[in-house]
Amino acid sequence: MKILITSALPYINGIKHLGNLVGSILPSDVYARFKRQTGDEVLFICATDEHGTPAELAALEAGQDVADFCREQYEVQKDIYERFHIRFDHFGRSSSPDNHELTQHFARKLDENGFLEEREINQVYSLDDGRYLPDRYVEGECPNCGYERARGDQCENCTKLLDPTDLINPRSAVSGGTNIEVRATKHLFLRQSALIDEVETWIDSHPDWPHLVTSIAKKWIKEGVRDRCITRDLSWGVPVHKAGFEGKVFYVWFDAPIAYIATTKTWGELDPRNRDWKAWWTEGAHVKYVQFMAKDNIPFHTISFPATEIGSREPWKKVDQLKGFNWLTYYGGKFSTSSKRGIFTDQALAEEPADYWRYWLMANAPESGDSVFTIDRFAEQCNKDLAHTLGNFVNRGMKFCEKQFGAAVPEGGDWTEEERAMATELEGLVADYRGHMEAIDFRKAMASLRAIWSLGNNYLASAAPWTAIKQDRERAACIIRTGLNLTRLFATLAWPVIPESAEKILAAFDMAPAEGGTPPWPGTDIEAELTALAPGRPFTTIPPLFKVIDWDRVTELTQRYGGAPEEV
Ligand code: MF3
Ligand code: ZN
Repeated sequence: MKILITSALPYINGIKHLGNLVGSILPSDVYARFKRQTGDEVLFICATDEHGTPAELAALEAGQDVADFCREQYEVQKDIYERFHIRFDHFGRSSSPDNHELTQHFARKLDENGFLEEREINQVYSLDDGRYLPDRYVEGECPNCGYERARGDQCENCTKLLDPTDLINPRSAVSGGTNIEVRATKHLFLRQSALIDEVETWIDSHPDWPHLVTSIAKKWIKEGVRDRCITRDLSWGVPVHKAGFEGKVFYVWFDAPIAYIATTKTWGELDPRNRDWKAWWTEGAHVKYVQFMAKDNIPFHTISFPATEIGSREPWKKVDQLKGFNWLTYYGGKFSTSSKRGIFTDQALAEEPADYWRYWLMANAPESGDSVFTIDRFAEQCNKDLAHTLGNFVNRGMKFCEKQFGAAVPEGGDWTEEERAMATELEGLVADYRGHMEAIDFRKAMASLRAIWSLGNNYLASAAPWTAIKQDRERAACIIRTGLNLTRLFATLAWPVIPESAEKILAAFDMAPAEGGTPPWPGTDIEAELTALAPGRPFTTIPPLFKVIDWDRVTELTQRYGGAPEEV
């Protein structure tokens, strides 16, 4: 099976926080790794989302030209994801030439098919700046709640979606100038109203979608899907090639999802073996397309982007399975990029290894509702599951073996009822784990993974090789050999979530995958898996994999990042 995976494109306007990471890129990576392990052909695509007013304003604030700003920030984000061990097949940019070309292609097709309409609308024009002020370029008083610093696209205080012309006492976010007038100007509208029946039929053909996704899509449809203005009076973006639209570009939400496809094209052209990139994006081809995103993105992925694809009247592949996430909160309040509240991805990596964050975030993924990040909770769970359960198991077995038998898998002794019972239980847990991963139920999957690790600990504790060694060396050898085999199996199973630690374990047995490689998923014959490491196979005892995050460290982190609940 071919599995196409895309993660919602992170905005370029700043380094992402842990809430952003768990809402799209991280779960996509975990799923992509898992699917590669089970033998599917996977393509995992992402890019930075570089257009729109947030990018321009961030560049302005940084005192940089927007193109330079985006080029630099792209490198910054790319580096962070690499250090988080996110293994994209390609991480591109929505500002790429491929995306310019493809966005224009879609616009042309939609136009030919009668789904674009020119309309004259009122826009805010700043005489001080000599330019239009779309979306966030204009600030003013919210007509709904009176908040003074509402932005032209939305009021941050009451969350109401706004039009720039709705604001009371508008001023320019660029210059603060209040010499503002409303001018009529021409824009292109995507006639979503003419496509919505087809979109709804397509949504209805996916009864298997999660409730969160379907309910959000249906709510939008019920409230009436309006035609959408897909152009803006900006210079940074994909230019609109149409007479009378000089100086205008496409709206960021029009070109960003198209970048999923354009980035695949970029990937395809990098290597002659991937020249047939379009096969990944053709309806009817044997590809399953899975998207990951936070819930605020769901309407764009279930309605606007599919409408664009359908309206092109070309056979573009549409999403098959869509995983939406609720919010991760920071001490019950919002993670916030604008007010720098929370822990950001670069900070996280400077504090603790990627695997700690990866594990905690997946174990607490905001799936059925919001979930809460606190430093205490983070430390407690990493300590318990990673340091005390998995880490101890791995370390104890190897150390004991090295001391008693030397650094090679010991020989002698046959499985007893105890091993057989353990293996039967393990078989069930591994099947559960795989099932939850297949279903993209990460919390449940992580619970199964923990249960697998605990099973190992319980087995060692009750088989007690340190007691057995005193009377029956063969028996102790059998237990330890089984323990070492469990260690290898645990690493393989945990690889999607904690790849760095898993590869350290595999390397101890000289079984690490080659650079960029994937350790295959264990077979269903558990006994074969638990006897795979042959007696005599050497290994290298590794130092403890995870250190305990102690109370002093928790205090230090709490002081550094501030954990006081937000007053709301
Ligand atoms: N940048 C958007 C966000 O962070 C997501 C864009 S997803 C895409 O909310 F589909 F537009 F690419
Ligand atoms: Zn408001």
